[in-house]
Amino acid sequence: MIALIWAEDQNGLIGADGQLPWHLPADMHHFKTLTTGHDVVMGRKTFAGFKRPLPNRTNWVLSRQTLALPAGVHQLASLEELQALDAQHPQALLFVIGGANVFETVLPIAQRLYRTQIAHAFTGDTWMPAVDYQQWRLDEHVVGAVDEKNRYPFSFDNFSRR
Ligand SMILES: NC(=O)c1ccc[n+]([C@@H]2O[C@H](COP(=O)([O-])OP(=O)(O)OC[C@H]3O[C@@H](n4cnc5c(N)ncnc54)[C@H](OP(=O)(O)O)[C@@H]3O)[C@@H](O)[C@H]2O)c1
Repeated sequence: MIALIWAEDQNGLIGADGQLPWHLPADMHHFKTLTTGHDVVMGRKTFAGFKRPLPNRTNWVLSRQTLALPAGVHQLASLEELQALDAQHPQALLFVIGGANVFETVLPIAQRLYRTQIAHAFTGDTWMPAVDYQQWRLDEHVVGAVDEKNRYPFSFDNFSRR
């Protein structure tokens, strides 16, 4: 089952110069808790922003090019290859972790959404594609705790496709 997981600011911003626009450890923890032990799929540009593959997860990189990837990181060349991977274990959550280009491509076939909203306006260059929330049922809403290390109000929302 394909799930999208992302964090956006109050304007839907998700990226800045190949990185996240914010530092929000509580969201990193949330992301790690949800995705650990699962397969994660990301676009070539998002992977390029990481220093190394995400540990304790099977990393898949979407690209139409022939990539030289680190050991243990696998490539998917198309949406069809992603669907074939999902079909191998349809009950397991397969997390698509960005970026915008990949989210736009995969959204029509996703069954779950894991969204973090940060109530602050950051600057950047990459936005989440529009999601039609009429098609989604809100399953869970959790308000995050603002503290010294997590300085912006934020919340976690989980959705299933209606
Ligand atoms: N806030 C968040 O939750 C979050 C999450 C992830 C990323 N981000 C941010 O998003 C930004 C990157 O996003 P982006 O939209 O620029 O790039 P991206 O989605 O990470 O990567 C785009 C690349 O993925 C490949 N691709 C996409 N669709 C494909 C398909 N159907 N088949 C094969 N390959 C496909 C292509 O690679 P080739 O050109 O090699 O063919 C394409 O150029 C960064 O700033 C990153 O930090 C934010």
